[in-house]
Amino acid sequence: MGSLAVLISLIACATLASGAAGARVELTRAHSSRLVGDALRRDMERHAARRLAASGATVSAPTRKDTAMGEYLMTLAIRRRANCARTIRRIMVFETFTFGSSSPANQARVPGIAFGCSNASSDDWNGSAGLVGLGRGRLSLVSQLGAGRFSYCLTPFQDTNRTSTLLLGSSAMLSDAGVGSTPFVANPTMAPMSTYYYLNLTGISLGTKALSISSDAFTLTANGTGGLIIDSGTTITYLVDAAYQQVRAAVLSLVTLPTTDGSDATGLDLCFALPSPASAPPAMPSMTFHFNGADMVLPADSYMILESGLWCLAMQNNTDGEPSILGNYQQQNMHILYDLGQEMLSFAPANCGTF
Ligand SMILES: *[C@@H]1O[C@H](CO)[C@@H](O)[C@H](O)[C@H]1NC(C)=O
Ligand SMILES: *[C@@H]1O[C@H](CO)[C@@H](O)[C@H](O)[C@H]1NC(C)=O
Ligand SMILES: *[C@@H]1O[C@H](CO)[C@@H](O)[C@H](O)[C@H]1NC(C)=O
Ligand SMILES: *[C@@H]1O[C@H](CO)[C@@H](O)[C@H](O)[C@H]1NC(C)=O
Ligand SMILES: *[C@@H]1O[C@H](CO)[C@@H](O)[C@H](O)[C@H]1NC(C)=O
Ligand SMILES: *[C@@H]1O[C@H](CO)[C@@H](O)[C@H](O)[C@H]1NC(C)=O
Repeated sequence: MGSLAVLISLIACATLASGAAGARVELTRAHSSRLVGDALRRDMERHAARRLAASGATVSAPTRKDTAMGEYLMTLAIRRRANCARTIRRIMVFETFTFGSSSPANQARVPGIAFGCSNASSDDWNGSAGLVGLGRGRLSLVSQLGAGRFSYCLTPFQDTNRTSTLLLGSSAMLSDAGVGSTPFVANPTMAPMSTYYYLNLTGISLGTKALSISSDAFTLTANGTGGLIIDSGTTITYLVDAAYQQVRAAVLSLVTLPTTDGSDATGLDLCFALPSPASAPPAMPSMTFHFNGADMVLPADSYMILESGLWCLAMQNNTDGEPSILGNYQQQNMHILYDLGQEMLSFAPANCGTF
């Protein structure tokens, strides 16, 4: 999980590092008329950055001149304004971070948080200043806070009215009904790939039909390529081509609407034309991701996306050698807990708008 780009209103109650109650952060998401296309372009920028970083080259945060969408935004205050502009191109700064802005009583201040500055990155993420890392690396926000665990519940992609929630530290708990748990798989290689949360995906079903996907399609290799990561900072799901083609064919076999080239409007590969923009899409069965020890059930609204009268599969094939990625569109309306002590991901269906 690279990052959760952040614009916040956080209601926190304690310094996390002291192991107290933890913190609750509200996440908002901006909206635009070209939601999917813009989100996908940023997915591609992040993939490019990941490839660069994996190659050992120096990498800065992807530059974005367009508005921040398709990401979840959290607001945090850095107490003093660190003047990064005066330095060399990139620098690491230590500062006090304040989570929560409404009333001082609800704020949590944590001193000595390291963060990077770069004026090579954009100053215009529509007011958002950077990326918050939730990964395994020692400089991620969760590592620096010593959070031990965190959870989030993301409201549906097109619902811009209600905020999503991020819980850090001991307030992150999963008591919902229908909880499934699956262990993380460690990437044996070096950062950055080792900072992602890999899962052991053993198969995919559409409805009751198990798709014909080779058992090693999602295997993380000894040299650290392949595998599947769960990422809150990538919008749609990217699957290794052999698996993607099976998913694509299975969806195609169930939908009687005409297909249409939606790549200009949405950037997506498989789109259907609805009879009219106001038409409701046909009913589809759920899609199940079979993880080691737990099934993750995605209702149709979590794998099909409706935009501009097109109804598209919110998945794509990945580039050779890249990991497959479970994106945030597929994680909507699910409470997802990362337990770093237990090395376990747990999840349960939830109504994130009322979380
Ligand atoms: C920037 O973000 C704000 C708040 O999320 C939103 O209201 C506004 O429409 C966004 N601007 C653009 C150009 O998307
Ligand atoms: C960083 O920004 C400052 C101020 O705009 C500029 O003078 C400087 O050349 C920039 N440095 C780099 C490496 O881009
Ligand atoms: C969001 O709020 C606006 C204004 O309150 C309302 O008109 C709209 O229907 C709401 N949208 C959703 C998806 O609830
Ligand atoms: C990594 O290992 C896989 C499977 O063993 C192999 O197909 C691939 O070529 C290797 N990639 C690199 C960059 O060594
Ligand atoms: C991805 O899928 C598209 C269409 O389904 C295909 O044309 C393309 O070659 C695939 N790309 C890779 C890298 O497999
Ligand atoms: C992945 O899960 C399968 C089936 O549960 C198991 O046999 C296999 O050992 C697991 N692989 C890893 C790397 O954990």
